[in-house]
Amino acid sequence: MARFNSRNNSSIWFSDGCVFLGGVLAAVFVVWGFSSFIAAFPTKNPNSQSVTTKLESLKRPDSALICAACTHGADLRHDCPEKTFYDDPEMGYTLSKPMNNWDNKRKEWLLRHPPFIPGAETRILIVTGSQPGPCQNPIGDHLLLRFFKNKVDYCRIHGYNIFYNNVLFHKKMDTYWSKYPMVKAAMMAHPEAEWIWWIDSDAMFTDMDFKLPLHRYNNHNLIVHGWRRLVEEGKSSMALNAGVFLIRNCQWSLDFMDKWASMGPQSPDYKKWGQIQKKLFKDKNFLESDDQVGLAYLISEEKAKWGNKIYLETEYEFSGYWKNLVDTYENITERYSEVERGEKRLRKRHAEMVRESYSEMREKYVKKSWRRPFITHFTGCQPCNGNHNPKYSGDDCWNGMEKALNFADNQVLRNYGYVHPNLLDSSVSPIPFDYPA
Ligand SMILES: *[C@@H]1O[C@H](CO)[C@@H](O)[C@H](O)[C@H]1NC(C)=O
Repeated sequence: MARFNSRNNSSIWFSDGCVFLGGVLAAVFVVWGFSSFIAAFPTKNPNSQSVTTKLESLKRPDSALICAACTHGADLRHDCPEKTFYDDPEMGYTLSKPMNNWDNKRKEWLLRHPPFIPGAETRILIVTGSQPGPCQNPIGDHLLLRFFKNKVDYCRIHGYNIFYNNVLFHKKMDTYWSKYPMVKAAMMAHPEAEWIWWIDSDAMFTDMDFKLPLHRYNNHNLIVHGWRRLVEEGKSSMALNAGVFLIRNCQWSLDFMDKWASMGPQSPDYKKWGQIQKKLFKDKNFLESDDQVGLAYLISEEKAKWGNKIYLETEYEFSGYWKNLVDTYENITERYSEVERGEKRLRKRHAEMVRESYSEMREKYVKKSWRRPFITHFTGCQPCNGNHNPKYSGDDCWNGMEKALNFADNQVLRNYGYVHPNLLDSSVSPIPFDYPA
């Protein structure tokens, strides 16, 4: 699913031998070194000197590391023989195994695996998952499959990797707490990824073209949808959503997750945290400590320690509330069609792999007031167990999901020559040449 441009290109470089490769890598390091080592790893680390020294040694064509890269680096079926953090018996994937000095360990791993260096500072791994057993809702598993298909489509279009997990990594950390052990394990398993993007199983992409504005997050390590003032001053835990978050693969995030998860059901302080959360956040309507209120607590009460590194996004629907969105899809479809009727280049048929260039071209015509919502999140609908929040009718939830899934699917099927003419109907029609002129 992932597209590593470096891999395609490097197969050409590698056949030309070490010296040329050394030059190419040196060039890559200069560009990458400045932008990423400074911007992407904001924590000051006393050991950064050793990494810089290694970086220097890598530029020398006689370096043993370069030769290791020549023989194995481009071939993903080979690992580098030198020791990395994986060889440390103390290193573990569970939340209970502390990890120190992760930023340097990650950097060193990257230095030993140069094919992953180009693009490292923006590389994203999507992590999502669902419960270990079958869904109680008779259509639950079908819905989850379609929600997953939607994420796979998005990943294929943008060249991201995805990890779907459906086992509990910690017996006591179930439901909304289950994601933290998964995110930690994903960080350990993917040192090549700068960001881990958790997306709940009931959230989906409804703009297949929009990409995260990562440049905005250079000084932040955790991005969630929400309104800072409502969280900090209004003590509202509904003013943010912890079901979709982007977290930097760095030491700060590991420390933050330790803190965050210390409010979870595996912790001796679970009960105490439930009381603290309930007392402070009046909109919390149950006693058990939960991760969303936990996050709101850390943003508002431990602002200097954690809150300042957390970005609350409101500029676009990073986790859009479905109730406000599902009735807008038809009109939005019409607006996008109008744009395409007015610009022949946007109607040009093209391969899915070159789709991003058309998305960029369309961007200047799209207005914020009617742009497709990036993510539609069916909060409270519970597609798998079917126990939706009583304030919604089940039909609202199921029809809303059907519409959203077909709305997103239309954006994908366009490249395959088909369209769902009716968003409430999964059947499709072939699209004619020059559609939608
Ligand atoms: C969609 O557009 C129609 C016609 O312009 C308008 O009457 C309707 O209110 C719009 N629906 C929504 C949900 O915005």
